[in-house]
Amino acid sequence: MRRLRVDVMHGVNLDQIGRRDPEHYGDLTFTELEVRVKKFARELEMDATFWQTNHEGEFCESLHIAAERADGLLLNPGAWTHYSYAIRDALELAAVPAVEVHLSAIDQREKWRRVSVIRDLCVGSVQGKGLDGYREALELLKAAIAREGDSG
Ligand code: DQA
Repeated sequence: MRRLRVDVMHGVNLDQIGRRDPEHYGDLTFTELEVRVKKFARELEMDATFWQTNHEGEFCESLHIAAERADGLLLNPGAWTHYSYAIRDALELAAVPAVEVHLSAIDQREKWRRVSVIRDLCVGSVQGKGLDGYREALELLKAAIAREGDSG
């Protein structure tokens, strides 16, 4: 059986995590996060592609063609999570199983961060667990894809 292909898609300001508040985002740089998440994926027999953009339209365009390159998505759209209906619509179009992941505990932070406009389109959501949350998100995604396969 071929390995599952996962696109780990990051949005605005995630490339800067090494410079952001470590209390919320930990102390890894984005490149270190990439190395660690790719290792998690390999351990779970998945192939991960890591990707980031600060341009909302680019994020949408990437979702438009997600089904051509990935079996599942891990999404951390950063602040777009809380208000981008454009990304929500593009995710709906993508029709690929997706798990939402956030380094910080967005449900326990400012009121505006507690809203996720993509959550109900996702097969799972992980937040507030830092790097480990990515492993959990990959596991959720793998289980969801397996369930989908079972149901034909
Ligand atoms: C984030 C949480 C968002 O509220 C914030 O805007 C980010 C990162 C997280 O991973 O915790 O940029 O998605």
